[in-house]
Amino acid sequence: MPEIGRPRVGILISGRGSNMVALIAAMRDGRVPAEPAIVISNVPDAAGLATVRESGIETAIVDHTAIKPREAHERAVLDVLKRQRVDIVCLAGYMRRLSPLMVEAFRGRVLNIHPALLPSFPGLDAQEAALHYGVKVTGCTVHLVDEQVDHGPIILQATVPVEDDDTVLTLSARILEQEHALYPKALALVADGRIEIVGRRVLVRI
Ligand code: GRF
Repeated sequence: MPEIGRPRVGILISGRGSNMVALIAAMRDGRVPAEPAIVISNVPDAAGLATVRESGIETAIVDHTAIKPREAHERAVLDVLKRQRVDIVCLAGYMRRLSPLMVEAFRGRVLNIHPALLPSFPGLDAQEAALHYGVKVTGCTVHLVDEQVDHGPIILQATVPVEDDDTVLTLSARILEQEHALYPKALALVADGRIEIVGRRVLVRI
């Protein structure tokens, strides 16, 4: 984290980018004490890229289909993050598993949002899995990223009830609303240096 000034945030996306929009809005209106430095997409035509270009924030495309093997692609992402002097990385619908290279370079400073209450329903299609399992409460989780998928220490969680008439679409929309509120709150804690990691527990300093 920088000694002086606000931490610089790099946001990694692969698609729609609605969490990216929520994070940028919160940094811009002062709810999160950090600067949006760059948005990187591994998918050249990700919808989120068009959205962010309108906001004047730097963007980069690091296409995983063009840069192989996996390590080379990740090194290219890392280079962009370093060039942009990024302090904190937020994964926002980034559909790539991070290698130990990235996790090690940004240990404790990579955040991810997952649309379920981890450790339940990790991986893809978490909302559908929760609905089919029949849980009555699900939600979303912001966690620090470690070497395993959807696994690192949990910063914040929000719950969402499952209604009898829910479909994957209605449930996902209700969870997404909570994601957009939760992710900025978690980023604010990290940017403010207010979290302490004790084993798997993330303690929040008042
Ligand atoms: C969100 O549901 C997030 O929890 C998951 O991927 C989705 C990304 O949506 N990791 P968006 O691109 O932020 O709109």
